[in-house]
Amino acid sequence: MFPLTNGVSYNSYLINDEKTALLDTVDAAITAEYMENITYALNGRELDYLVINHMEPDHCANIEEILRRYPGVSVIGNAKTLQFFNQYYSMDISENFLEVKEGEEISLGKHVLRFYMAPMVHWPEVMVTYEVTQGILFSADAFGAFGALAGNIFADEVEYDSYYLDEARRYYTNIVGRYGNQVQALFKKLDGLKINMICSLHGHIWRGDMISYILNKYDIWSRYLPEKKGVVIAYASMYGNTENAVNALASKLAQRGVKDMRMYDVSKTHPSYIISDIFKYSNVVFASPTYNLHLYFPMDSLIRELSVLNISNRKVSLIGNHTWSSAALKVMTEMVNNMKNMEIVGTPIDIKSSLKEDREHELDALADAIYKSLSDD
Ligand code: FEO
Repeated sequence: MFPLTNGVSYNSYLINDEKTALLDTVDAAITAEYMENITYALNGRELDYLVINHMEPDHCANIEEILRRYPGVSVIGNAKTLQFFNQYYSMDISENFLEVKEGEEISLGKHVLRFYMAPMVHWPEVMVTYEVTQGILFSADAFGAFGALAGNIFADEVEYDSYYLDEARRYYTNIVGRYGNQVQALFKKLDGLKINMICSLHGHIWRGDMISYILNKYDIWSRYLPEKKGVVIAYASMYGNTENAVNALASKLAQRGVKDMRMYDVSKTHPSYIISDIFKYSNVVFASPTYNLHLYFPMDSLIRELSVLNISNRKVSLIGNHTWSSAALKVMTEMVNNMKNMEIVGTPIDIKSSLKEDREHELDALADAIYKSLSDD
């Protein structure tokens, strides 16, 4: 579903205490390497517990194999976990399954695992495991990121802001984006817990100052607030005329002092990147032609997906284009008006085939309105 040009990591954690506990498994793509690692890390010991924080197959593909190798292992999850396991796989794990409820604890010796349910972050069975003694949160997919690791496993060991953050945002907004309220509910549940480390199922481990860094990002993203003022221009163009208009608009915005704009042709860039930047910035311009008496479908799909992801609190400007029957602007206006707390900035422009010089003043007025909106609180 998502381009992974820099890969992705599948993280699984082993606690070697008086009892041994494995927290989640990994994707089927790396079974052989994973089993070799587990065997090495256990160094001949038995596996006592397997905690399933999340039942999505990118983490569960090796549960059956773990059970085949360690038949005495207790598999920890909640009622929904077992239901989903039985939907995906065929091994009977009922004898091994140990159901836990909110706040229950299991001692491994020095370490104690406490379980908190985190429904719909981003699946219904999701739970997080808090290791009480050292204050380690095993957070399932939460606080994860696209991008494979390159040796360093801690976020403070890499240039996170400049190199990894965009992929962490693309991961969050596309995968968890719809469930901002549930992320906020998890924050409330964890409030007051001493958290020294966050171990997600994807990406780097968070510790030290990087914990407040990622918690702050998640707070902003899950409340659908922009991280910064700026403009994303998402356009479609059949013959280059709509593209020409948005290039002119971007130049006019730049002349007024707007910096750091992002421009995407929706026919060419995967929507996950555009969605991520629309979550990042305060303003967005949608510009699209009419096609078959409807809004051009890649633009329709982008705006529909943004709506499903519950994007809100953005300032939106609209440009349509048509030759004989106008539909794009009408459909875009309806879709944006159906989203929560979206403000239409400037007067929408409906181009007829190409933007002529006698209508340039409309583009100037739109640039003025967008520029002004960027200085408003
Ligand atoms: Fe990484 Fe929701 O699975």
